[in-house]
Amino acid sequence: MMLLNTLQQHTEQPWLKHFIQIGDGNNQAFENASTLTLKNLKSLFNECQQPYSALDPQLLKNTIYSSDLESVESLESVINHTHLLIAKNAIIVQHPHCIAHLNTPPLISSIIAEFYIAALNQSMDSWDQATSATYLEQFIVDWLTKTYSMGDHSDGVFTSGGTQSNFMGLILARNCFARKYSKHNIVQDGLPEYCNKMRIICSDKSHFSVQKSAALMGIGVRSVVRVSTNIQGQMNTDELQRCIDTLKEQGLLPIAIVASAGTTDHGAIDDLQTIAKIAQQANIWYHVDSAYGGAVILSQQHKHRLSGIEKADSVAIDFHKLFFQTISCAAILLKDKNNFKNFCLHADYLNRKGDKYPNLVDKSITTTRRFDALKMYMTLKSVGAPTLGKMLDKLIRMTKHLANRLKEDKNFELCCDPLLTTLLFRLSSDYQHELSDEKFNKLHQTLRLQLLTSGDAVIAETKINGKIFLKFTLLNPCLIETDFDSLFSKIKSTAKKLIALNS
Ligand SMILES: Cc1ncc(COP(=O)(O)O)c(C=O)c1O
Repeated sequence: MMLLNTLQQHTEQPWLKHFIQIGDGNNQAFENASTLTLKNLKSLFNECQQPYSALDPQLLKNTIYSSDLESVESLESVINHTHLLIAKNAIIVQHPHCIAHLNTPPLISSIIAEFYIAALNQSMDSWDQATSATYLEQFIVDWLTKTYSMGDHSDGVFTSGGTQSNFMGLILARNCFARKYSKHNIVQDGLPEYCNKMRIICSDKSHFSVQKSAALMGIGVRSVVRVSTNIQGQMNTDELQRCIDTLKEQGLLPIAIVASAGTTDHGAIDDLQTIAKIAQQANIWYHVDSAYGGAVILSQQHKHRLSGIEKADSVAIDFHKLFFQTISCAAILLKDKNNFKNFCLHADYLNRKGDKYPNLVDKSITTTRRFDALKMYMTLKSVGAPTLGKMLDKLIRMTKHLANRLKEDKNFELCCDPLLTTLLFRLSSDYQHELSDEKFNKLHQTLRLQLLTSGDAVIAETKINGKIFLKFTLLNPCLIETDFDSLFSKIKSTAKKLIALNS
C-alpha cells in the first residue's frame, strides 16, 4: 500500500525526484548525484595538467552557447556534461601555475561546509529561517571581534565580500558624520544639503570599491581624495595630515579615512597606528580595509603589523582570500554595535520589533543571506587558527624568497620588495631592445594573455606608474619553491617567442 502511494505520488508529481525528501523518500537520487559529482571532481584534480585547458576561448563560448536549454536530460548526464565542458575548462585554482588573483584554493573543510550550506539552505535574515545558523554566525563574529581586539561594544556580520564590507563601513561613516555635524538622520531623511562637500580619504593604492561605494552612496566618485603612497604602496601619513588640513581649510567635510591592510597590488599594510591617531585627533571615522591582509592577525610572526586595527570604527575582512575559504565568505566588524541601527528597518513579515530571538537582517544590507559562517566554523575546528597563521607565514616567506630570486635573475626586474604575498615584476630591459615603452608594455599584456590561453600559467598584470607589471599573488600554501622553476622558464621562453614573432 505504502509503495503504491509512493508510486502514485511520483506519477502525479514527477518532479519529486528532483528534491531531497523527508523520510524514506527518493534520497537515493541525492546520494547518486553527490557520489557521481565527487567522483568527477576527484578525477579532475587527479588528472589536471594545466591551470587552463587551452581550449580556444571562442570555441569555448560557442560550445556553451550551443547548449539547448529546451532539451532536458537526466541529472547524471548533466553532471557528466558539466564536468566535460565547464569543470575541465575552468581555471584550476589548485594548480601551482595559477597564481594571478586573490582567489584561493579552498580548504576541504570549506568545501564540505558548502555542501551543508547548500543542502540546509538556511537564510540568515531571520531566526525562524536559521535557528542554529544564527547562533553559529554570532558565535564566529564574537570570536572575530575578540581576535581583532575590537572591544566590549563591538559586533559584526557576515557579508558577500570586501566590496560590500567597505560599502557598509562607508555608509556608516557618512551617516554618523551627518548625525554629529547637524543632527541630520540620513536613514530617515536622505542626504543633507551639504553632502556635496563630503570627502572620503584613502590612498592612491586603495581598492576601487572605495570609489564604487562613494558612487553608490550618492556623494560621487569625486568625493574620494587619494593620498600618495611610498614605493611599497603604503599611505604617506604626513600627506594624510596635510590633506585633512587642506580639505578643512577649503570648507570641505572629511567623513572617513580608509586605511588598507593589504593593498591589492603591493600587499601593502598602511601604518594603522599612525592613521588611527590622525583619525582620532581629527574626529573622523576610521575604516580599515583588511580584505586581503586581515588574516595576518593569526600569524604569531606578523600580527604586530596590524597593530592599530583594533582602533578602527569599522573593519572589512575577507575569508575567501587568506583564510582559504570558498567564495563568498567575508565580514564587517564595528567597534560600536549601535551603529548597526543604521541598517535596521522592521518588516511585519520578517523581523518585528521586539522579536524574542535575534534576526541578523537587523545588521545587514542584504535580506536573504548565505550561511557562510559555517565554513569558518568548520575550518577553525578542523584546521585551527594557529595553522592558518602558519600557512600565511609560509606564503610570506616564500614571496620574499621569490623576490630575492628575481633580484638575482637578469631576465627580470622587481618592482619593489614585497610586503605580503604579491610579487610585482617585469621583463628586464634586455628584452626591450628597440621596443618603445608603449610596445614593451603591450608585450607584457600579450605575454600574460598568451600564457593564459595556452593553458601554461594564470598570472596577473597591473600598471604601476605607467609601466605594466606582471603579478603573482601567492595564496596557495601547498606550493613549494621549485614549483616556480618551470613557471619562470615558461614566462621567459614565451616572451622570447613573442619578441621573435614581432621582429
Ligand atoms: C584590498 C581589497 N579590498 C577589497 C576587495 C574587494 O573584495 P571582494 O572581491 O571580496 O568584494 C579586494 C579584492 O580583491 C581587495 O584586494
